[in-house]
Amino acid sequence: MNYKEALQHPVFKIISQSAKELNLDAYVIGGFVRDFILKRGTAKDIDVVAIGDGIKLAKQVAKNLHNKPKVQVFKTYGTAMLRHDDIEIEFVGARKESYTKDSRNPAVENGSLSDDQNRRDFTINALALNLSESNFGELLDPFNGIQDLEDKIIRTPLDPDITYSDDPLRMLRAIRFATQLNFEIEKKSLDAITKNSARIKIITNERIVTEINKILESKKPSIGFLLLEQTGLLKHFLPEITALKGIDEVEGQRHKDNFYHTLEVVDNIAENTDNLWLRWAALLHDIGKAPTKKFSKKVGWTFHAHEFEGSKMVYHLFKRLKMPLNDKMKFVQKMVFMSSRPIVLAQDMVTDSAVRRLVFDAGDYVEDLMTLCEADITTKNPKKFNKYHNNFKIVREKIVEVEARDHVRNFQPPISGEEIIATFNLKPSREIGIIKEAIKEAILEGEIPNEYEAAYNLMLEKGKKLGLTVGGK
Ligand code: CTP
Repeated sequence: MNYKEALQHPVFKIISQSAKELNLDAYVIGGFVRDFILKRGTAKDIDVVAIGDGIKLAKQVAKNLHNKPKVQVFKTYGTAMLRHDDIEIEFVGARKESYTKDSRNPAVENGSLSDDQNRRDFTINALALNLSESNFGELLDPFNGIQDLEDKIIRTPLDPDITYSDDPLRMLRAIRFATQLNFEIEKKSLDAITKNSARIKIITNERIVTEINKILESKKPSIGFLLLEQTGLLKHFLPEITALKGIDEVEGQRHKDNFYHTLEVVDNIAENTDNLWLRWAALLHDIGKAPTKKFSKKVGWTFHAHEFEGSKMVYHLFKRLKMPLNDKMKFVQKMVFMSSRPIVLAQDMVTDSAVRRLVFDAGDYVEDLMTLCEADITTKNPKKFNKYHNNFKIVREKIVEVEARDHVRNFQPPISGEEIIATFNLKPSREIGIIKEAIKEAILEGEIPNEYEAAYNLMLEKGKKLGLTVGGK
């Protein structure tokens, strides 16, 4: 492979020139090189390591670029960053690092390129390309990272115990890369992750969530969640998911393992949507099942109101992990809360009124809800599988039909409370609510169309039954 190809962007020549002016060596290292070799598209993040002062190099590069970009300096880390076109370039001086036990912030010492490569997380992330004029594009691969890319192996440059214990976030990164790239984690490494898993506690929730999100955004997220569970990491930040594991048996009756079921649902939904929050909804759709699980002789295993319980748990989980408590969280809550609704529809004849109620309750989220429920079909019985999918197809068609006719999505009642008050000359009273509800119910049931005149007549009829008269006389 001609690695010069990776360095075609003119900015690399400018970095090379700037390094020469400062009389130091510079290399591109890490994800940029890895992704070039994997042909994952040209990365927009470039990491440059200088054998010397990285901040100085960043400033020199900025000076030599025609648009003179601003250099952002992070003194504590000894790094500097600048943006050029749509590329973000981070500069760091090569270093030797040693970490303290209770923090992932290292004590830093200047070092050589190989010191710097040693302290990196994985062999595939320690690949470096020389930027010096005489050896421009030369690959430096001291740990056989190229071979590991070929063999699809995640391996640490040093003893994995040291690499992970130095920075426990790397345990999640290993699993995240294994998921994104469909690589295997070397056995020794996997054992070290298992051994060090409790050290994940020193990592901030924000960083953990970044990695979970990347796992969820992968083609087959279950790869990551299985590894997270198997290594003992998952229970530290998503105990709601590990609680779904296991099958209980009482008097010969068993329920399904909701952990594995959940992972199947997440993989299914990943085939049909890139919406991260819908993928979160798939991951969390059954979390209410662990606390609501009961066995009774009469009906066997039940998870009564698990959707309601689950939607409450979503809030606590988001809060604990410092995730946004905004409309995204509300969306996930709503999906979890409604997650069983379409399934019930799909088991029977699909009636117009049931579909109208679904559209009414789900509003703009109805298509996402359908996507979730289709992913939730994990039955291994082909007859049932086909039946449910066919019924969902009918539900989707009916949603369009009902929508075109009845406009119940984001339902606005055709008769307002004010109009009821004015018509019967009422003071605020119970009757107003009763009439409004009757109109809404009649529309949802299909007894009257969602139109003003029909609703007005029904209002008069209901008013009469309640002993009201027009004008209040
Ligand atoms: N790195 C490391 N340990 C970490 C984080 C990063 O050794 N905990 C090193 C790796 O060499 C990595 C480089 O820093 O390649 C850049 O890190 P980052 O930008 O976070 O990741 P990338 O490898 O570029 O991958 P991605 O963009 O997919 O996160």
